[in-house]
Amino acid sequence: MVQRFTLTEQGVTHHGRCVATAKYLAEEAAGRMLFSGFGTAIDQAPPTAERIEASNPANINIVRFADEYLALWEAGAPYRIDPRTLETLGAPSWPLDRPPAPFSAHPKVARDGALWNFGVDPLNDVLHVYRIGADGKSAWTHALHVDQVAPIHDFAITERHLVFLLPSITCNKSRLMAGASFAESCQWSPQFGMRVLIVSQSDASVRESQLPAGCVFHVANAWEARDEIVVDYMRSANPSSLLAGWSVMAGEYRHARGAALTRARVALSNGSGSQAQLIDHDAEFPCIHVADTGCEYQHLLCIERTPDRAANVPGYDQLAYVDTRSGGRRVYHFGGDWLVEEHLLVTASESSAPRWAIGTALDACARQTVLSVFDLSTLEAGPIAQARLPYALPLGLHGTFVPSAFV
Ligand SMILES: [Fe+2]
Repeated sequence: MVQRFTLTEQGVTHHGRCVATAKYLAEEAAGRMLFSGFGTAIDQAPPTAERIEASNPANINIVRFADEYLALWEAGAPYRIDPRTLETLGAPSWPLDRPPAPFSAHPKVARDGALWNFGVDPLNDVLHVYRIGADGKSAWTHALHVDQVAPIHDFAITERHLVFLLPSITCNKSRLMAGASFAESCQWSPQFGMRVLIVSQSDASVRESQLPAGCVFHVANAWEARDEIVVDYMRSANPSSLLAGWSVMAGEYRHARGAALTRARVALSNGSGSQAQLIDHDAEFPCIHVADTGCEYQHLLCIERTPDRAANVPGYDQLAYVDTRSGGRRVYHFGGDWLVEEHLLVTASESSAPRWAIGTALDACARQTVLSVFDLSTLEAGPIAQARLPYALPLGLHGTFVPSAFV
């Protein structure tokens, strides 16, 4: 389901609409669930392994690129959305010779305006790489063989490379073929360490390095510094954040230490890797200024979990604006009864530094979703504007901010 908030001088309006995926249309017509989801196997459904595209809910991110709005999953194809009506329009218009699937939900736009993305096919041990030209009229794709490829959620680009951090997770193919959901088929595999793949943008050649075993969902940014690739990412030492997700569904959640902002360095000359935690705080959903993609950067927004949050309550309760150069942080604590979702950095113009943060949070006591706007210079004083819906939205994942001139 795509949610749209429109901010005008008259106020804030909200509109939500389900993406008309093949899964949604078939299940609406049948009046019941037909296909297993990412984390839930449906009785008598065809095995996910045989019908991965049939499980595509297009529910992770919405991205604007080359004047098209794309609702993205990560193991299936993108769906193009009308930004005004949220109507599903079909496939993007890029000239790829086959449907772009799997296509991750975290594409990156390079300085030349091109969009880079990837997609993981764990059944065939393939990592697909895509480059779509800035105008959407040229496209390039390459399939890399990666033995026991991990489920990769996010990646980074630098000036000349694509950077993949592979969590120490592998897909149990026989479990997937037997009908388990994809999440149920993931297994902790620390013997692989955290593999680092550095892929050349010019010829798709791959260098491999290794960091200590760990898990990663989101990568904040990466850049090249002399002979090194530097990567900032949200690292957890174990798979608890992945496995705990399913205990929420059973009402048995017990929080274990989550991910923390970590800086890894990989030498291009010999592949040696090292890393250090930057901030000792459970955090996720890192957001950078889009213009800083692939460059050394300063502004980072993320959501955090305060250490005293009740252990049986999932999620995050705090927004943090981090100066990665000084290590300074401004934080705003919503409260223990809130579930804070991704917030985005907003600039006054494309070339200026970020000035505001905007995002949603669930006020669980009131059972209402709240949209907040913060001035970054006074973030700790709380939102400068808030719009409270008279209802709660289903918790979401990622979104994008678009100035009204583009809609
Ligand atoms: Fe994500």
